[in-house]
Amino acid sequence: MAQPRILVTGAGGIAGVNFVRALRASSRHYYIAGTDYNRFHLEYPDVDARYQTPRHDDRSFVSTVAKIVRRESIDFLHPQPSSEALVISLRREEVDARVFLPPGGLMKKAQDKLVSQRILEKAKVPVAATMALRRDLDVGAAFKLLGRPLWVRARHGAGGRLSLLCNTPQEAEHWVKLWALRGVKVSEMILQEYLPGRNVAWDSVWKDGRLITSYARERLEYPFKHVSPSGITGTPSVARTVHDRKINDVSVSAVRALGKSPNGAYSVDLKESTTGVFCVTEVDAGKFHTTMPLWGLAAFKILRMPWYANLADLYVRIGLGEEIPGSIPQTNLIPAGYYLLRDMDVGAFLWREDGWKRRLL
Ligand SMILES: Nc1ncnc2c1ncn2[C@@H]1O[C@H](COP(=O)(O)OP(=O)(O)O)[C@@H](O)[C@H]1O
Ligand SMILES: [Mg+2]
Repeated sequence: MAQPRILVTGAGGIAGVNFVRALRASSRHYYIAGTDYNRFHLEYPDVDARYQTPRHDDRSFVSTVAKIVRRESIDFLHPQPSSEALVISLRREEVDARVFLPPGGLMKKAQDKLVSQRILEKAKVPVAATMALRRDLDVGAAFKLLGRPLWVRARHGAGGRLSLLCNTPQEAEHWVKLWALRGVKVSEMILQEYLPGRNVAWDSVWKDGRLITSYARERLEYPFKHVSPSGITGTPSVARTVHDRKINDVSVSAVRALGKSPNGAYSVDLKESTTGVFCVTEVDAGKFHTTMPLWGLAAFKILRMPWYANLADLYVRIGLGEEIPGSIPQTNLIPAGYYLLRDMDVGAFLWREDGWKRRLL
C-alpha cells in the first residue's frame, strides 16, 4: 500500500497526539485523519483532516465514525481512548476499515476492574485482595479482612478514577457516600489491599496469540499530583525504562488470562505489594498507554533503533495485515535506564543518570 489512509479517534487527547506524531516519524507516508469530541483539542494533532464527533456514549458515535471512514476511504482505524475503542470493537462490522483490537466482550471485561481482578485471581496472577461493596456498605468488614490502609477506587474509568488511599473505615465510608450522593452507585466502588511499592507500566503488541514485542517502565512522578486527592493524575511526568523478568512474566500471564488469543495493543499496570510482589491493577486490552507511542518515537528517533521500535508504526503495519519479521525482541524492547521527562509547556526529554540528555519534543 503506497500511502495507507489511517483514522485516529480521540486524536486530540495527549495519547492521540502522541500516536499521530509517531506515525509521522515513519519512513512511510501515511495519510492521517483525526476525530475528537472536543473542538479545541481537535486542533492539537498533526493530521491531514479533522472531524468533530459526538462522545463515545452518544447514539450516533459509531455511525459518525463509519461515515468518516467511507468519506476518507480509510484503510485502518485506530480508536485511541479505551471508551471509544470498546464501542467500536463491539460494533466493528458497522465500520468499513480494518481495526486491530481484541474482541469487544474481552475489552468490556478488562475495563471492569472488579471482573478483571477476579479473572486474574482465578488464573493465579498476583493481584490486590479486593472486596466489592454492596448497598449496605460493609466498609468495616473490608478493613478487618484486608488490613489498613485500603485503596478505594471505581470499577470503570481511567486516570485513577475516584481512587483514594483511606486510613480508616470512616474515611472510606465518607468517600463512597460522597460519590453516591453525586450519583455513583456504591456497587461501582471497590476496596483493595494497598500496594505501596513501585508503580510500573508494561506495554505490548500481540498478533493472534503471539507476543510481538513489549517493554516496561517505572512511573516515578505524576504531573499536578498535588491537585488530585490520590496523587494519581493518569500519565507520568517522570518514568524510567526497566528490565525485570518478574514484571515481564506477570504481565504476559495477565494478558493471556484474559483471552486465549491476544490481538492488538495491551497495556498492563502493576504495583508492588508490601512483600515485593508485582500485582496487576489493570490490563487495558486494545489500548496504547498515553506515552507508549512517545517511547517508541524516542527509541526510533533518538536511540536509532530499527523501524519496529516505533510502536505506533509497528502496530499499524500489523493491523494492515503486513508480514512482520520474527527477529523483534519479545520483551525489553527499549534499553533500561532511560528516563522520559515531560510536563506541560516543558517539552519532553530523554535522559540518563550519567547526564546524557536529548530533547524529544
Ligand atoms: N490497590 C492499589 N494500591 C495502590 N495503588 C493502586 C492500587 N490500584 C491502583 N493503584 C494506583 O492507581 C493507578 C491507576 O490505576 P490503574 O489500575 O492503572 O487504573 P486506571 O489507569 O484505569 O485508573 C495505578 O497505576 C496505581 O499507581
Ligand atoms: Mg492504568
